[in-house]
Amino acid sequence: TKRTVSGIQPTGNLHLGNYLGAIRRWVQMQDEPGECLFFLADLHAITVHNDPAALKNNIREMAAALIACGIDQDKAILFRQRQVPEHAELCWLLNGTARIGWLNRMTQFKEKSGKNREGASIGLYAYPVLQAADVLLYNATHVPVGEDQKQHLELARDIATKFNTDFGVELFTLPEPVIGGPAARVMSLRDGAAKMSKSDPSDASRINLTDDVDTIMAKVRKAKTDPEPLPSEIEGLAERPEARNLVGIYAAMTDTTPAAVLAQFGGQGFGAFKPALGELLVEKLGPIAARLADLKANPDELDAILLKGAEKAQALAEPTLKAAYEAMGL
Ligand code: TYM
Repeated sequence: TKRTVSGIQPTGNLHLGNYLGAIRRWVQMQDEPGECLFFLADLHAITVHNDPAALKNNIREMAAALIACGIDQDKAILFRQRQVPEHAELCWLLNGTARIGWLNRMTQFKEKSGKNREGASIGLYAYPVLQAADVLLYNATHVPVGEDQKQHLELARDIATKFNTDFGVELFTLPEPVIGGPAARVMSLRDGAAKMSKSDPSDASRINLTDDVDTIMAKVRKAKTDPEPLPSEIEGLAERPEARNLVGIYAAMTDTTPAAVLAQFGGQGFGAFKPALGELLVEKLGPIAARLADLKANPDELDAILLKGAEKAQALAEPTLKAAYEAMGL
């Protein structure tokens, strides 16, 4: 049976990369056959410096953002990782299976720890093991994520395979990443070689779902581009990362392909394309921001939704954890 599982860290705002790379797909998948579980990866959020008051606020903010984007508690189980302690427990068991050599290859750890690798937290290093626990706990078959999470999911498959082999069980299902489309990797508006990210110090590098009309229009207008008009064929985007990014965003926002966008805008300059893209974003994101503001006004309701989701998730998680303990002789 199909079971979809995915998570997002409740750090700061939801941006266009999260939305197009993952959340929009989540919203589509909750209408497909099979069960969906979506969670706030609040235990992952503490692997870098964390401000308790900000985290508390961000958890509610992210829950509201997901609901505003269309995640529906009647169609999907929405919860906080921390409220299902089985995640942390299974992570510890999987720490016995995961190999240091595997974790040493994780590019996200290398990027996030930067030059100060010795000073990075153990949690940041072991982060992908918790992520493996997140999906293996529910025997996820499908994991919709952006391109940047691909390596973590390959690790989850390696951990699942080794655990099953080492203990002679067929406990864990190998999760399939669901990645693709023109926005699998949305890039920074300031640098076509860097991904759009919450941790970029420049707010102009990303579109936040909560940005107002003027901010969105200004960010798109100032987005880095080259002086050439848009090509008519997608081959013409090969060496133009910034143009490719904006065309990809437009295609994803309108559920079409970059080729179709170029059929419409090929030959036109950014002086025409940027305002069209800005208006499109305003039109699509405006209603989400309005819903988000309403939802945030009701924190008790958000907490109740998350708690109810956690109870449902826990009922699914318990048998897997129990079977893992048994397989290990504990
Ligand atoms: P996070 O919180 O960084 O991002 C949430 C989702 O958004 C996607 N994403 C992007 N997609 C396209 N372009 C971008 N610029 C971009 N930036 C972010 C991410 O790929 C992700 O799908 N480790 C995960 C959270 C997590 C998780 C899990 C995901 C924890 N446990 C289990 C799946 C399954 C993370 O930090 O995502």
